[in-house]
This record gives sequence, C-alpha cells and structure tokens, in this order.
Amino acid sequence: MSKLRILIPKEEIERKVAELADEIRRDYQDKHPLLIGILKGSFVFMSDLIRKLNIPLEIDFVRLASYGAGTETSGTIKQVHGVKTPIKGRLGDRHVLVIEDIVDTGLTVRFFLDYLGRRKPASLKLCTLFDKPSRRMTEVPIDYVGFTVPDTFVVGYGLDLNEEFRHLPDLCVLEDQE
Ligand code: IMP
Ligand code: MG
Repeated sequence: MSKLRILIPKEEIERKVAELADEIRRDYQDKHPLLIGILKGSFVFMSDLIRKLNIPLEIDFVRLASYGAGTETSGTIKQVHGVKTPIKGRLGDRHVLVIEDIVDTGLTVRFFLDYLGRRKPASLKLCTLFDKPSRRMTEVPIDYVGFTVPDTFVVGYGLDLNEEFRHLPDLCVLEDQE
C-alpha cells in the first residue's frame, strides 16, 4: 500500500471553497447560472460549492474521458455523457460556469470549453479548485482558481488514482510517487 501524505487539509479546502463561493456569488447573483461539473472528479467540489453559493442556479454534469488507467493523459478526449440542459432555452441564453477539479495539461477543459463556446452561451467561465500549471499543453483561461499545486499526482476530495481515494476529505499525495 502506498503511504498518503496530506498536501492540503480539509479545513483549508473548506475555507477556499467559501472564498470562491463569495466571488462567484458576487458575479452571478442575478444571472441564474448553469454550473456544469466535469465528472467524476468535480462532484465533491461541486456539492460543497453550490451549498455555499446560496443563489438560484441550475446544475448539470458532463462525463469526459481523457485519462485511461494510470496518471498520464491520453490526449484524446471524448464526451461519454453529454450536457442535457439547453444552453439556449425558453429562459434565454444561459450563463455557463464550468466546474473542474483540476486543470493539468488543460486538454480536457480546452476541448469542453471549445464545445460549449460553439453553442453560444450568454457567458462562459471556468472555475477549478486545483491548478497544476507546470504541465500545461494548451492555453486555458481560468476565471476562478482555488489552489496551485506542484507537479505531483494528487488524490482525495473527489480526485482518484484508478478510482481509488476519491472519498478522502483532504488533498493528498502518494509518498512513493515523489
Ligand atoms: P488534463 O486534460 O490533463 O488537464 O486533465 C484533466 C483531468 O485529469 C482532470 O479533470 C482530472 O480528472 C485528471 N487529473 C489531472 N491531474 C490529476 C491529479 O493529479 N490527480 C487526479 N486526477 C488528475
Ligand atoms: Mg476531472
């Protein structure tokens, strides 16, 4: 078994999520935004964030596949489960905020932002809790970012390694990975 070391404790994550929620609330107060979480990693962050936001909003999820087994991106992104909520609906064009757990190479989120952009939402922004800028392969404009993390594989708070460790409340690194 690999040994886990806490990189960002849950109390610090909770404080940061509250700060992000304050910022997002100011910007989206009267916009009834559509938050789209990228599964599976963002589900923990999304559920904490929306409960701190406390404004009228709608949520949806998309499932994108970029990683196979292991810790390296494959570079090929597919929509395994697409967005069902209309971006242009009876309520008018939606203000879309994409919620991601971590931006690494940027390929996943770049693909999804390009896809949503073509559907012409009223506005389109990105919020990620963790950012690993050292491995970026494509430019990604991030509007709300929680923590910048070093170039190491992190798990917990929704993030996994081969479907393990998502349930951990803290953000951790595997000691034998470093
Ligand atoms: P990207 O396309 O390389 O930016 O990869 C983004 C996706 O890979 C994220 O949404 C995560 O699901 C996953 N990922 C990237 N880095 C990590 C990590 O350190 N731990 C767990 N998952 C990661
Ligand atoms: Mg993800």
